[in-house]
Amino acid sequence: MAQPTQPVADWTRDFDVMDARYVEDPFPIWDELRETCPIARTERRTGAWLLTTYADVTAAAHDIEHFSSLEVGVIDNGQVVDEENNATPYGLPPISADPPLHTWTRRLLLPWFSHARVGTYEAMTRDLANRLIDGFIANGSADAAADFAQQIPVRVIANILGVPEDMSDAFTGWVRDLLEFADDPDRVARGQEGLGNFLIAEIASRRDAPEHDLISELIGLTHDGKPLEDGIILGMVALVLIAGIDTTWSAIGASLWHLATHPKDAERLVQEPALMSTAIEELLRAYAPVTMARVVTDDTDFKGCPMRKGDKVLMNFPAANRDPLAFDRADEVVLDRAINRHVAFGSGIHRCAGSNLARMELQVAVEEWLRRIPTFRIARDAEIAWAGGQVRGPRRLPVSFP
Ligand code: HEM
Repeated sequence: MAQPTQPVADWTRDFDVMDARYVEDPFPIWDELRETCPIARTERRTGAWLLTTYADVTAAAHDIEHFSSLEVGVIDNGQVVDEENNATPYGLPPISADPPLHTWTRRLLLPWFSHARVGTYEAMTRDLANRLIDGFIANGSADAAADFAQQIPVRVIANILGVPEDMSDAFTGWVRDLLEFADDPDRVARGQEGLGNFLIAEIASRRDAPEHDLISELIGLTHDGKPLEDGIILGMVALVLIAGIDTTWSAIGASLWHLATHPKDAERLVQEPALMSTAIEELLRAYAPVTMARVVTDDTDFKGCPMRKGDKVLMNFPAANRDPLAFDRADEVVLDRAINRHVAFGSGIHRCAGSNLARMELQVAVEEWLRRIPTFRIARDAEIAWAGGQVRGPRRLPVSFP
């Protein structure tokens, strides 16, 4: 069980990214930190630093010599890794790897998420979005997070991996165990076991009978003249599932939350559909879901902060995106923002490999929702539930429409 934690009183010296206030409305906390203490510190859990400005987050993301990706989990639950029986001895490359492992594993994944390849999934995604809407449109109400946003990315990823779509609920459950409940060792163990056992069996079956999917292709590839080890294949495939589900679901859900609470923006997008791709970038900027961690490789002074070898550093991409020194009207959603160098997908060598896919899914989901349900609001007396920590987004979002 996760241990209940004390609410935070001092964000500069005792922050907690799992604090209920931070999960629900982190924006004023980031503003306060940027102004008073842009690199915050906590001793909670195993201790960590929190970067909140655009300049600091991007500088650390590019400094791979001092900030390693060997530990990217934002929450450390104290679980001890069983080195001998670890099915993923290389972690989840490329995201949890430094060069050289990072470089070649990333190169093997990229073709699967190219513009051209992603284009082949668009019709299926549009059809899926419409089938989901068909399921609730007559009711005049829906949970836009659970009935819609949550259902899209997991099915698209299942298609890419060639695993059964009807296992979507199980995939979603395992990924949530790993990312959203990372402070609960029992749930993390459940997620690791469920996902690990399932993927090990899938890899074994592709060895016997290859198909046209990512798992089969990875089995057929070589590096340095040798086939990829099972531990590498498992890590890469698990990463694609973990990185592609909660993240995109959160971005779709947060975008719909914004449109439900800002009806003028929804109306404008309905009137000016050509604005859509610019608006999607702005929604990604304003509601960037993903915070990642790094581990300090050697004692170093970073912007006056004495960081020690082994310290965890939280790369707060969402807070960087709201930095007024980097963006005009940083706390406003400006649908036609012309210059938008946001870091929702990270920065530097680990920049999101799936960003084309994420953008396509987000745009198709918002387009189809607005085409079928142009006017909608948060349902009366609705209780909205946000998840936070590593990936922030709404998990319950009751809306109503005429
Ligand atoms: C809106 C949705 C998404 C967001 C906001 C997002 C965000 C991110 C961020 C911030 C990183 C950088 C990690 C770091 O610096 O440590 C990252 C990496 C990555 N993402 Fe995404 N992601 C999204 C969707 C996806 C999808 C759909 C996939 C595809 C399955 C994907 C696959 C990856 C992979 C493989 C990496 C590792 C890249 C590397 O280490 O070189 N992501 N993502």
